[in-house]
Amino acid sequence: MGNVTAIVPAGGLGRRAGGDVPKQFLLLRGIPILTRTLLRLTASGLIDALIVVVPPGAEEWCRKHVLAPYPLPPTIEIVPGGVERQESVFRGLQRVTAETRLVVIHDAVRPFVSPDLLRGTIEAARSFGAAVAAVPAVETVKVVEGGFVRDTPSRDRLWIAQTPQAFHRDLIQEAYRRAAADGFRGTDDAMLMERLGIKVKVVPGDPENIKITTGEDLERAGQILSRWEGAGCGSASATTFIPWSPDAR
Ligand code: C5P
Repeated sequence: MGNVTAIVPAGGLGRRAGGDVPKQFLLLRGIPILTRTLLRLTASGLIDALIVVVPPGAEEWCRKHVLAPYPLPPTIEIVPGGVERQESVFRGLQRVTAETRLVVIHDAVRPFVSPDLLRGTIEAARSFGAAVAAVPAVETVKVVEGGFVRDTPSRDRLWIAQTPQAFHRDLIQEAYRRAAADGFRGTDDAMLMERLGIKVKVVPGDPENIKITTGEDLERAGQILSRWEGAGCGSASATTFIPWSPDAR
């Protein structure tokens, strides 16, 4: 496939969901969510190098509890992240080597990414320079201002972006540099390319490739795992393990 580096942003503190343990460090049937995501990426055979971005201060803990006990390559690089996802990815991008041709960015909290989706996104990026996995919106989306509906965009044009997102290395590094220089904040990686006028190819995503953000997402993740692995091999619910928390530093 050529030289492909994956960046996995895992630097969130999970505050938004109301919990105090970052979601990527929760156990799902005994295995941390971040570990599950990394195992899927490495098992695909499509990734040549892996950079994981973690909350600053969690680097050693992460190596010991999230990587070392599992069959993951020892070459995985761990990088301290920033306050927002964009800053975390930017820090990861700064570690990407010059031999890398394609960069795949995949959220730590999406452990159900399939090898086919990964391959499709990488191939689209190889052909078009930039690619994003996305699923068609199944609900009507309203633009709301001051508590009233301002607009209702036509649903057939609306897609929900997922990760993986993949890009030619030079393009995504330039997009991140420009965003930082302009003080621009996007909500995904593709958005930073779009503002430079680069066309981003859409790859049909997977409804099961969920982003685990809330307690309900954790329940859904347990259900997906039960279907995949069968019921009865450990608890489907998420629990913490020797927890890392920013307050414990
Ligand atoms: O914040 P959001 O839900 O968009 O997080 C998506 C991914 O980005 C998660 O895997 C999270 O750990 C990561 N993230 C990060 N650095 C931050 C915030 C979020 O790497 N400062």
